[in-house]
Amino acid sequence: MDTVLSGIRSTGHLHLGNYFGALRNFVKIQDTYNCFFFIADLHSLTTHPHPTDLHNGVHIILSEYLAAGLDPYKCALFVQSDIPEVCELFVLLNMLAYKGEMERTASFKDKVRQNPDNVNTGLLTYPVLMAADILIHRAKYVPVGKDQEQHLEIARLLARRFNNMYGVDVFPEPQAFNFGANLVKVPGLDGSGKMGKSEGNGIFLYEDDKSITKKVMRAVTDSGPTEPNSPKPEVIENLFTLMNLVSESDTLAFFDEKWNDCSIRYGDLKKQLATDICKTVAPIRERIDAISNDADYLRKVAALGRDKARESASATLKLAREAVGFKAF
Ligand code: TRP
Repeated sequence: MDTVLSGIRSTGHLHLGNYFGALRNFVKIQDTYNCFFFIADLHSLTTHPHPTDLHNGVHIILSEYLAAGLDPYKCALFVQSDIPEVCELFVLLNMLAYKGEMERTASFKDKVRQNPDNVNTGLLTYPVLMAADILIHRAKYVPVGKDQEQHLEIARLLARRFNNMYGVDVFPEPQAFNFGANLVKVPGLDGSGKMGKSEGNGIFLYEDDKSITKKVMRAVTDSGPTEPNSPKPEVIENLFTLMNLVSESDTLAFFDEKWNDCSIRYGDLKKQLATDICKTVAPIRERIDAISNDADYLRKVAALGRDKARESASATLKLAREAVGFKAF
């Protein structure tokens, strides 16, 4: 079975964009791949969160991933900082990562621009730590969004460089994992295109029906079609895209027809959309509530994931240590 690995940032709550964009696909591949999913809390330290916030973030994300369907018995679901082997490999890889290369990384340049007062070297070597996350499990596939492609390229570069430098074949070069037809971009309700935390337009998995409905009813629309069968403007297309994700196909067809014959009432469309989003979110929200209050279960899950991940990590680290020349007397 091929290995798929993904790291998850531990800031904020998951929204429908995360759910349909990535999480639902992670849930689907648990049976067909050897999956490693972890919460990247070491990476979070680059922004210096308060210790309480750091832990809360991990707690939230772990609960929400479990609630959405990740199965800790099928995949390795763990917390990055529980795996000390990652930090050791990070040190080894740092010797092969050149300062100029790291400075040229787009994400680093962005951070420097956004946060000139906190240009710590953790930010500079962020891609090296990410490479260590991936290479420590010799992962073959990594599902990445556009913003992480360059980091994956650096992971490949370091894998290649390590193998060449030491004349070994320890690290396979990780490839981007493509969800193909399942890959969907989830729009926001404000006409801004993408649903995202930083866009401030998210519908979150923990939200109750009332608050979801309020957000949907406020979604931006236009004054309605005037010509039959006209193309939909983006704000309207966005509502249909969401509906396509959460509603039955005949519901979608019904409103499509109403659009085409110019008899559509946006209030009806939104009411239906809100109902169907609530139907998707409600069972997840109920599980989030239950899981996040179940300290015993979370402890068990984290320990199980840690043990699986450390077993895999220590096997790789042993090979890497031998390759560089560490040897017992
Ligand atoms: N950098 C990734 C992000 O911001 C998170 C991450 C950390 C990651 N380590 C990883 C993703 C390893 C994939 C593989 O989303």
